[in-house]
Amino acid sequence: MNRIIAAIVLGLLPLATLGAGGGVTPMSANNNLEDNTSLQRGAKVFVNFCMGCHSMGYMRYSRMADDIGLERDLVAQHLMFTTEKIGDPMKIAMRVDDASGWFGVAPPDLSVIARARGVDWLYTYLTTFYADPDPARPFGVNNVMFPDVGMPHVLWPLQGVQSYIKAERPANTVSEQVVRIESDESGFALSTSVTTKDGETAHVTDRLEVTVPGSMTPAEYRKTVRDLVNFLDYAGEPVKLLRFQIGFWALLLLAVFAVAARLLYKEYWRDVH
Ligand code: HEC
Repeated sequence: MNRIIAAIVLGLLPLATLGAGGGVTPMSANNNLEDNTSLQRGAKVFVNFCMGCHSMGYMRYSRMADDIGLERDLVAQHLMFTTEKIGDPMKIAMRVDDASGWFGVAPPDLSVIARARGVDWLYTYLTTFYADPDPARPFGVNNVMFPDVGMPHVLWPLQGVQSYIKAERPANTVSEQVVRIESDESGFALSTSVTTKDGETAHVTDRLEVTVPGSMTPAEYRKTVRDLVNFLDYAGEPVKLLRFQIGFWALLLLAVFAVAARLLYKEYWRDVH
């Protein structure tokens, strides 16, 4: 028995270490793959705001339409800007070498980004762009999850522009690291651990706040990003939708079978003493 428990614990260990590291703990995306209207809204945002630069080469328009409950005709009319055939993959026209020239690094294909980065990372990344006046920043923005990112804040018309409001910290601070992010009504609180020259650590709470408003309130924007991340999650593994359903029935079958097996067992052994 002890060995079984040890095996289970050891088996789970990699999960715990996966979650650690990287410094910042991302916020939870809380997305729901079973919410079709959320997936549809997310697809719309993706096509309108992301496909200028990112492709989704493993996904076909037709498959997306069928999976998330959109009419193929409507997708063709409203969501296909870069191609004409509904069966085409969601590719874009930008060439990789052009893109590398413009951005320093080519925007990656986002087909499986949710599996590579995780939904929580994506949600936090897309909500924590902030204005950075440093002339070295090509687009005037930076990002909490992805410091010195090469991507502009393309969703700023919706979110507006956030400022990084620093709390007072010890004068002799030499390094600092955001450890946790939490959203609230007016923006995000960033719990930051700072280290001073004498090697002491202290905790301060900085803030991200919208100082140039966009078309959405902070809460509406977070919801929009949740939809977008939901769509990226679906795209990374389209069969997930089906797998959840199959999984449910498979477990139910096993449960019913276990009861039957138990009854049968009792029946067989009733007369054996
Ligand atoms: C103007 C072009 C452009 C647009 C539009 C754009 N991106 Fe990007 N994106 C980039 C570039 C360039 C990078 C590479 C940044 C780097 O590695 O420093 C990037 C990187 C990313 C990454 C990080 C990939 C990784 O793990 O390294 C994600 C996630 C991402 N983009 C998501 C999005 C989403 C979602 C949208 C739509 C809301 C979007 N992008 C719109 C240019 C763009």
